[in-house]
Amino acid sequence: MQHCLRLAAFGLLQLLGALSLAYAADAYPDVKIEPAFTNNGELRLPTDFRRWVFIGAPLTPHALNNEAAGFPEYHNVYVQPEAYDYYLRHGSFPEGTVLVKELQLTKERAFPDGSRLEASGRGFFPGTPNGLDVSVKDSKRFAATSGWGFFNFGHHAPPYEASATLAALESCASCHQANAHEDMVFTGFYLQLKPLPTGKPMDNMK
Ligand code: HEC
Repeated sequence: MQHCLRLAAFGLLQLLGALSLAYAADAYPDVKIEPAFTNNGELRLPTDFRRWVFIGAPLTPHALNNEAAGFPEYHNVYVQPEAYDYYLRHGSFPEGTVLVKELQLTKERAFPDGSRLEASGRGFFPGTPNGLDVSVKDSKRFAATSGWGFFNFGHHAPPYEASATLAALESCASCHQANAHEDMVFTGFYLQLKPLPTGKPMDNMK
């Protein structure tokens, strides 16, 4: 009898597992690497994101911001490969898109303007990693902030926080709402979101 009960319980667990997988697959049918949440709704730190598609790296150095840049680092932005392909095909981000912005300090300055000299010339050069911000598209879960949730995993060297709470509207989403180029994302800065021109006459039409 006990054995039967154990089997039944095991079967039930398997069913629940399958159901929750099916639910997850339904929530984000167009991405394989899905955003993962803890039971209390915190976003888990995305893993291995440096192997995703790298789409750009805006830079706001101290020297150009009265020595008081909020984010003096390169802003290295990554997106899951499937969300990237989806954007190229449809011109929009699918549900479950995760945009990771890893901050990377510039190498130590040698000149007052923050620059230094390397073999290639004088300029700014990428140094050590220094923080992680993430945005996730889920129109239902984040309906209150235009369909995207924003999370900060720390503004410091790795390791980053294992999970992050949803940021308040005024800390992140409001600025993206007011200024982003399309759908809460600054797409205009990311060349990789635009197909390389082929040189064919049709390219001139875009
Ligand atoms: C005052 C405006 C402002 C605020 C506040 C802000 N951002 Fe952004 N964010 C930007 C701009 C501008 C860019 C693109 C240029 C850049 O990175 O410098 C950007 C880029 C991003 C990107 C890369 C994808 C994209 O949308 O282009 C992520 C991810 C991101 N921000 C997350 C956050 C998070 C998380 C917070 C809150 C902790 C936050 N942002 C707060 C202005 C803001």
